[in-house]
Amino acid sequence: MAGPATAQPSSRPSVLRCLVVAVLLIVVLLGIAVLVFWLAVRPKPLEFTVDGARVRGFNVSGHALDAAFDLTLSAHNRNRRVSVYYDSLEVSVWLDEQSVAAAEAAPFHQPRRNVTTLVVAPAARGAPLLAAVEKSLKRERSGGWLGLEVRVRARIRLKVGAIKTRHYVLWAYCPSVIVRFAAPSPAQEFNKVYCDVDI
Ligand SMILES: *[C@@H]1O[C@H](CO)[C@@H](O)[C@H](O)[C@H]1NC(C)=O
Ligand SMILES: *[C@@H]1O[C@H](CO)[C@@H](O)[C@H](O)[C@H]1NC(C)=O
Repeated sequence: MAGPATAQPSSRPSVLRCLVVAVLLIVVLLGIAVLVFWLAVRPKPLEFTVDGARVRGFNVSGHALDAAFDLTLSAHNRNRRVSVYYDSLEVSVWLDEQSVAAAEAAPFHQPRRNVTTLVVAPAARGAPLLAAVEKSLKRERSGGWLGLEVRVRARIRLKVGAIKTRHYVLWAYCPSVIVRFAAPSPAQEFNKVYCDVDI
């Protein structure tokens, strides 16, 4: 059959085809833009290490803990094009899944390709201990050491060129931070701990 009856249905697929082509083109262009941005920025993960840990005034009595933990951490930003705003940063000390002490570090802006050292001293003052935690704490103490987990929780924004991102929450988990009570030289005796970082 010829005439307007066939013209009508044949124009619809071509509109549809145009739409599909346009959408595909946009997807491809967006993909290229993301790829170019990625190649230009080459984002590298943020890293944390615990470089030193000491304990002062350690005392367990009445199922509660008194202690101050002197911690030295490093925040590593290996990025060439990304700087980091640490708008808040809290360091906490955990004993077997139990939080016993926390301290805030002052907010800072970390430049590109920078390592910033953070010194914090979270203190436990009469922190109640779970029975199992107290038991392993006393056992470790009599062996002359203490095993901690250090956690960092930070609110960050990233800056690339003139663009600042929204806030993200960064978590760093630093397991098996071993503090020795009678170390001849604290720096020598400490094994640096590499943290797992989640954003
Ligand atoms: C440990 O704490 C208890 C209770 O606060 C206190 O009586 C005791 O003197 C403390 N011990 C040391 C060695 O500081
Ligand atoms: C990292 O940045 C901080 C803050 O701007 C600065 O004080 C420090 O010297 C820098 N460290 C390195 C290794 O560039």
